[in-house]
Amino acid sequence: MALVDVSRLPQHVAIIMDGNGRWAQSRGKPRTAGHERGADAVRAIMRAARRLGIPTLTLYAFSEQNWDRPRAEINALVDLLCDCLVSERDELIDNEIRLNAIGRLHKLPTRAQSKLHALMDATASFGGMTMTLALSYGGREELVDAARVLARRVREGSLEPDEIDQAALEASLPSMDCGPVDLLIRTGGEQRISNFLLWGSAYAEFYFTDELWPDFSANSLYCAIRAYQERERRFGLVPGAQHAAATNESRDELERAI
Ligand code: FPP
Repeated sequence: MALVDVSRLPQHVAIIMDGNGRWAQSRGKPRTAGHERGADAVRAIMRAARRLGIPTLTLYAFSEQNWDRPRAEINALVDLLCDCLVSERDELIDNEIRLNAIGRLHKLPTRAQSKLHALMDATASFGGMTMTLALSYGGREELVDAARVLARRVREGSLEPDEIDQAALEASLPSMDCGPVDLLIRTGGEQRISNFLLWGSAYAEFYFTDELWPDFSANSLYCAIRAYQERERRFGLVPGAQHAAATNESRDELERAI
């Protein structure tokens, strides 16, 4: 088992859960069977992250682009989401996990939206860990939505164009409510970001693994964190000089990111 230094945990772990389809197909099963096993892996990783003391976990559960998948697969994923939002209720409550969601949630079927909001409401006061599901999410779409929010404020006269800075844009990005990503994990062998958390992962450490998502275990998570802890994060500065050389702005970023 990989040894993790719990005093230097990434504060925000984000995961691109890829490989469900291949996991199923390699066993001669329908892709939906892979998603079902993927949901088991979600439960295992949620537990492991909570046990370790990771404050924020964000999971890419359904992208904007996933709407172009076959209707039967989309329906199966929505059904699975609905089932999990009911079956995991006690687990979240017992472990004081706050459920959060980002993305164009209004595009989800009403039954999924209502279950999602019910569980978000039921867990809203918890501080053990925040688990965010990215649903109907796209990083570019989120930036477009933020630009529209700011443009409307300029039109209404409550914001000057010159007042649009990184802080103003960030304040309009729901994905930044939980702060920047420290560790971004992608399973399934591909090495790309696929429109996930584009702003928040600007200084994230990336960890790619060939493991398919249904095979990703608590020990896999420990290995990813261990790899993260072996890296030096420089945020564009020189080695070993982060704190001494940091400007106020970058120091703020460091403090949030470390
Ligand atoms: C990518 O694998 C995975 C998805 C598009 C869906 C993720 C869903 C789950 C992990 C299960 C349910 C989750 C929750 C939160 C209830 P893929 O299908 O693209 O795999 P492939 O690349 O092998 O085809």
